Amino acid sequence: MIISRLSLKNWRNFRSIDVDLSDRVFIVGPNASGKSNLLDALRFLKDIAKPGGGLQQAIVERGGVSKIRCLAARKEPAVEIDVELKNGSDGPLWRYGISFTQQVRGYRQPILRHERVWRGGKQILDRPTEDDKKDVIRLTQTSLEQINSNSEFREISRFLDSIRYLHLVPQLLKHPEAFKGPGLSDDPFGKNFIELVARTPENTRRSRLKKIEEALRLAVPQLINLSDVKDETGIPHLEATYTHWRPGAGRQREDQFSDGTLRLIGLFWTLLDGDSPLLLEEPELSLHTAIVKKLPALFYRMQRRRKRQIFVSTHSWEMLQDRGIGGEEVVMLEPNNEGTVATVASKNTDIRKLLSSGLSIAEVALPRTAPPNLEQLSLNLE
Ligand SMILES: Nc1ncnc2c1ncn2[C@@H]1O[C@H](COP(=O)(O)OP(=O)(O)OP(=O)(O)O)[C@@H](O)[C@H]1O
Ligand SMILES: [Mg+2]
Repeated sequence: MIISRLSLKNWRNFRSIDVDLSDRVFIVGPNASGKSNLLDALRFLKDIAKPGGGLQQAIVERGGVSKIRCLAARKEPAVEIDVELKNGSDGPLWRYGISFTQQVRGYRQPILRHERVWRGGKQILDRPTEDDKKDVIRLTQTSLEQINSNSEFREISRFLDSIRYLHLVPQLLKHPEAFKGPGLSDDPFGKNFIELVARTPENTRRSRLKKIEEALRLAVPQLINLSDVKDETGIPHLEATYTHWRPGAGRQREDQFSDGTLRLIGLFWTLLDGDSPLLLEEPELSLHTAIVKKLPALFYRMQRRRKRQIFVSTHSWEMLQDRGIGGEEVVMLEPNNEGTVATVASKNTDIRKLLSSGLSIAEVALPRTAPPNLEQLSLNLE
């Protein structure tokens, strides 16, 4: 199943956007245009649906409704998220939508304005119901998060809960002692990545590490024999052999791996792990341009084999130079005073023409999303 459409209203820097999504989605736009915010809307749905999660906690973790609601919105309108889920080429299987705001009086708790579910075009949930109106506190929880009220659409709940997000920060992995504290749920920055590897059943773990080692050998030829080990205190580590000019290669652990090596290991592992939607933040970071160029094709193959939807936020010219990327796979974000506008590249006639004349997304879409007046940058810093 994939998220085939996303519509947001008053979500952070988006006043109102509505985009069709394909199996592979590249999100492009200047700094602060909302690429991460767009991915966060999907993480928000996951946070509602996950066991032990829920609407209240998802909002608290983001600092409250006032942080989430678009600052460019007038008055205090509701925040809305609406998604369509699709299986194969048929029409949407599910549609799920919520809208929430903050109570005007009292505890100022976040509260649902509506929650709606459609299956195959037929609406099966429409809140607030009469019961909700009698007992308003019910509107502090979604039906999605409640096992006893989501039985008719638990598939949506499971699907949203399965969404994975990765923005691996190598320093967290190399120096976990420097970043103590409770950490974030779902470990988005990979702090516990090596524990996750160690907890994976042995056969799966070994076969995945083997595949990663083979792929890694092309990108980082001097590293061989990637494996996981436990130290004398039982803490898991990644280890590899570092070959060099002297006979007798040395073993290295993750704290000695390069940033790019760790990001590649994290990326490859996550790509092999499961078939749920995967949100990747700027996977090009720390990687050589020759490798970055190969990523779109790699995503395509993985996503084809596993029927997995992959979202990629990126600034990378090299990645978007791949002529295999179609205009329908690219969401362009363009900020303006009224909030960021999102357009699927293929919906723009000019872009469609340029793409069909053989230009790449990098050539067509990236210049459109660059901030104006950038030539003044160095002058202003002098
Ligand atoms: N409630 C809100 N209303 C309006 N704007 C908001 C709100 N919350 C955050 N923003 C704005 O969203 C922008 C950050 O967006 P985001 O982090 O998604 O950008 P990005 O495209 O991922 O940028 P980068 O490429 O630098 O990672 C900031 O400019 C921030 O001010
Ligand atoms: Mg970002």
